[in-house]
Amino acid sequence: IQDVDKSWDDEHQQLLQTLPEEQEWVSGSSLHLYQGFWYLPLVLKHVISCQRHFQASDSDVIIATPPKCGTTWLKALTFSTLYRNQFTRDENPLLTFNPHRLLPSLEYGVYLNKPCPDLDNICVYKPRLFATHVPYASLPTSIKDSDCKIVYMCRNPMDMFISFWHFRDMLRVESKELLSLHKAFDKFCHGIYAHGPFFEHVLGYWKASQENPNKVLFLKYEDLKEDISCQLMHLAMFLGVPFTEDEKKGGVVEEIANICSFEKLKELEVNKNGSSQSNGIPYKVFFRKGKVGDWSNCVTPSMVERLEKLIQEKLNNSGLTF
Ligand code: A3P
Repeated sequence: IQDVDKSWDDEHQQLLQTLPEEQEWVSGSSLHLYQGFWYLPLVLKHVISCQRHFQASDSDVIIATPPKCGTTWLKALTFSTLYRNQFTRDENPLLTFNPHRLLPSLEYGVYLNKPCPDLDNICVYKPRLFATHVPYASLPTSIKDSDCKIVYMCRNPMDMFISFWHFRDMLRVESKELLSLHKAFDKFCHGIYAHGPFFEHVLGYWKASQENPNKVLFLKYEDLKEDISCQLMHLAMFLGVPFTEDEKKGGVVEEIANICSFEKLKELEVNKNGSSQSNGIPYKVFFRKGKVGDWSNCVTPSMVERLEKLIQEKLNNSGLTF
């Protein structure tokens, strides 16, 4: 196994040398352009392992998001909806485990240091649930070719950008510097950040959802904020586990919305003081403000103007708006 790992390491190092490279937002980190999207080197290694080895089954559900668009929230909601008959309401594992622990990300968890992990063992609950930030075009072929379902969620790009900038700040070690908001914004507009560019990411899943609405559900963070019950019912229907009339009358939808709410999750002991076993990231960094429109406190009019132009140019005629 060590020989296999060594040759895979060598192959990966050689690949990195052939790919376009840019500085990441934090000093000392680099990003590499692979199939049109930027990746941190180690994450790219896991993405490629996943592309080579992941075998989707028809009953799998994949949660796909650009980073900082509500992945944690969507994981909690999907987990609680899909498995609601597998535990009692007082025993929802979300009360004691962070959503990222319960629902592993393919490139940040499942394929971390293991080219061929035992997937059935990793997923305690069935059907299997996985998450990813990988763009639609780069998904393992078995995800696209099987009948598995994909739930995608995105968010207003300015809120996503502000959230990402704060996230990078919270995760950096003190000796490393973070780009100023203005410089980071320039990189963001050029699509240069982990898993960028934003618009190409969003449009890939948007087109797939238009072509195959039974396979790809396209959600927006803002819509969930506006009417979580309605969106949850929509999600449950898409997943093939619609809420029954009895469940609706019994308040099950509101209960799930409540346990997954920002206010509730943020205050749980595990999310206040716990951290990831695999990479040491403190879970509290995933719960910052949880608001729509926080960008308006942070950006200048010229930044807004530039992004609005970009939105118009990129989403032109797609039918998608922010
Ligand atoms: P802010 O930084 O704007 O507060 P991700 O989970 O993809 O990393 O996204 C993180 C963003 O989602 C952060 O946004 C975070 O506060 C917000 N968030 C986390 N949990 C949430 C929840 N249960 N409901 C709404 N927003 C949530």
